[in-house]
Amino acid sequence: MDNHRTIPLLVDVDTGIDDSLALLYLMASPEAEILGITCTAGNVNARQVATNNLAWLELCDYADVEVALGAEVPVLQPLVTTEETHGPQGIGYAELPAPTRRISDRHATQVWIEAARSRPGEITGLVTGPLTNLALAIKLEPELPLLLNRLVVMGGVFNHAGNTRPTTEWNISVDPDAAKIVFDAFSVLPPERRPVICALDVTERIAMTPAHVAALGRAAGSTPEESLSLDDPPGTRSRGSNAVVRHLSDAVRFYMEFHRAYDQGGYVAHMHDPFAAAVALDPSLATTRPATVDVELAGTITRGQTVADWLGMWGRPANADIVVDTDPEEFFRRTIERVGALARRVG
Ligand code: BDR
Ligand code: CA
Repeated sequence: MDNHRTIPLLVDVDTGIDDSLALLYLMASPEAEILGITCTAGNVNARQVATNNLAWLELCDYADVEVALGAEVPVLQPLVTTEETHGPQGIGYAELPAPTRRISDRHATQVWIEAARSRPGEITGLVTGPLTNLALAIKLEPELPLLLNRLVVMGGVFNHAGNTRPTTEWNISVDPDAAKIVFDAFSVLPPERRPVICALDVTERIAMTPAHVAALGRAAGSTPEESLSLDDPPGTRSRGSNAVVRHLSDAVRFYMEFHRAYDQGGYVAHMHDPFAAAVALDPSLATTRPATVDVELAGTITRGQTVADWLGMWGRPANADIVVDTDPEEFFRRTIERVGALARRVG
């Protein structure tokens, strides 16, 4: 094993434009040892998620990581996907070469449980989609929260507007019952092992701009310069010489058009999931505050709302460290440097 790869990770995603950049960030980070990637239905269906993951891995010559399917629907409610946000295949306008490798024969829950049992206390779990697979794994192995080193989740919203309904964030609203199972199960941990929650309150500050995409293209040595502009006809495609840059740019353009069309901060793209990936590798990137988190399941207009008891009014111990601040430009500096270098290396 490569001695530099010091942070073993299990990653569960619903790829997804920002999940795509999260995977690129992890592949580009020498300290990350990706043990397996599991697929949850969310942005698009789980099989498409798996195809996207395999395609990104192959594009980056990172082909030997297991990609496993889990549940194809939430634990209790029907599946809803969001192609209008992430494009028909979940990767915006990008058209990645079809992967040659196949989905694993193992179930996502088996991947998580066996890895965690074989390296107790070592593995960081990262979930950037609905919590369906993790909830199912916990049902099969209730010790899972204790077997992981740390869990980092992109999900939820606290003192901020929701992005799915007025008080709900997408990942939690797709499978609120799974989220409740996970938050309850992680209530048993000591403070230093509490899950880190990257909620919309902070991830909506991680706004990728056309200048960031151009800088990433330059870091990769891609020509001509990436120049995403509000004035371009929708769906304009990148002519970048570097395949990783070209596909990422085509994906991000779709996300920027979506943010602009749905009044989400203009011609930018909120990079929720890559931020969570960066925090999983380096928690010092985030300032956190402990709280007890629970998930509303019964509300007629608030089902899926994540509620934080900041002041201990419920009399229950904190079960989450919620990210309350970060330096977005430091995150983008790392992303441009790392993903730019990866793209330059693999062509
Ligand atoms: C989350 O929802 C998805 O659409 C994104 O990939 C991200 O994980 C943000 O609410
Ligand atoms: Ca996601």
